[in-house]
Amino acid sequence: MGFKLAIFISGRGSNMKEIVRACQRKELKSSIELIVSNNAKAPGLLIPEIRNIPTLTLDESNFDNKNFYLLLEKSLIKNGIELICLAGFMKVLDKDFVNKWKNKIINIHPSLLPAFKGLKPQLNAIKNNVKYAGCTVHYVNEKIDSGNIIDQDIVKVSLDDNEKSLSKKILKKEHKLYIKVLRNLENCNG
Ligand code: GRF
Repeated sequence: MGFKLAIFISGRGSNMKEIVRACQRKELKSSIELIVSNNAKAPGLLIPEIRNIPTLTLDESNFDNKNFYLLLEKSLIKNGIELICLAGFMKVLDKDFVNKWKNKIINIHPSLLPAFKGLKPQLNAIKNNVKYAGCTVHYVNEKIDSGNIIDQDIVKVSLDDNEKSLSKKILKKEHKLYIKVLRNLENCNG
């Protein structure tokens, strides 16, 4: 069974776009009911595919933390959201919020967790000379990039890779992995 999804973004929104497309093409059974951005200038908000999807922009320069969560919860409930996909959402969600939505928030991270949590994982992969890198979709808990791992995919790091080229390789895999995970979760959902 599909989910009523919300996708949270802060920036480019390429993972969001892939998920929206997969739903629109019926490659997934889920539907996107809400896009949330904590950045009013996120380029992802201009992606044509999300034209008809309700969008909630809670720019952090305009909302204090309390109001941010009040408005967010209200909108998630109003739109009947069952699963939240973080896709480049650059805010660490409060413990209370995460606990309320336990096992209902997933995130994609461009490293093979538990390696290289946090910022700049692709650069850290290069600096540490790893031969394989990749991406991870995981449940979100109160600690950064630390919830249970759902699935991963790998890329080979070449000798001439740099942060940019590796990020590009990983992003390609991310787009496929997020859809695969959602399909598997749908299959487990009744
Ligand atoms: C992706 O690399 C994702 O793994 C990370 O932030 C980036 C977001 O990219 N959390 P996009 O906004 O989906 O294009």
